[in-house]
Amino acid sequence: MAFLDILVYPDKRLRQRAEPVTVFDAELEKLVQDMAETMYAAPGIGLAAIQVNVLKRVVVMDLSEEKNDLKVFINPEITPLEGTQEFEEGCLSVPGVFASVERVERVRINAMDVKGNPFELETDGLLSVCIQHEVDHLNGKVFVDYLSRMKQDRVRKKLLKEQKESASQAA
Ligand code: NI
Repeated sequence: MAFLDILVYPDKRLRQRAEPVTVFDAELEKLVQDMAETMYAAPGIGLAAIQVNVLKRVVVMDLSEEKNDLKVFINPEITPLEGTQEFEEGCLSVPGVFASVERVERVRINAMDVKGNPFELETDGLLSVCIQHEVDHLNGKVFVDYLSRMKQDRVRKKLLKEQKESASQAA
């Protein structure tokens, strides 16, 4: 297993659109394992492949307190069902920033597991928020995009400054 580097906002590579997975092989299983390790180490509750610069529609997630319930979504698709909810979101690609985002409350998810077996589930609450956040990533979107221009500017400046500082420390 390997830890992967997580791209940090406003990195333009986070704006790419991920491609559907068509081959379910050992390479995909390794990617999923490496993404899970990277997510647990961060630590975070969800990670999309595009955040580690892999342009595939792959998402890993673990919402359990014990961190023993890894969920894998390959080629996830969301159908909005009903309601709206607001949740304070964060993101491994936007470290230290949390902001409230309004999303659909109840959604249907259609996806495949790592072997390519399709599954479907309906959900609300944190899983619903999280899968909407991760599918946004696969489409080149970050939760910061939902904030006001002024807040987006503030987040961009803060993170660019931090990246500059950590780069000069490393040099
Ligand atoms: Ni995120």
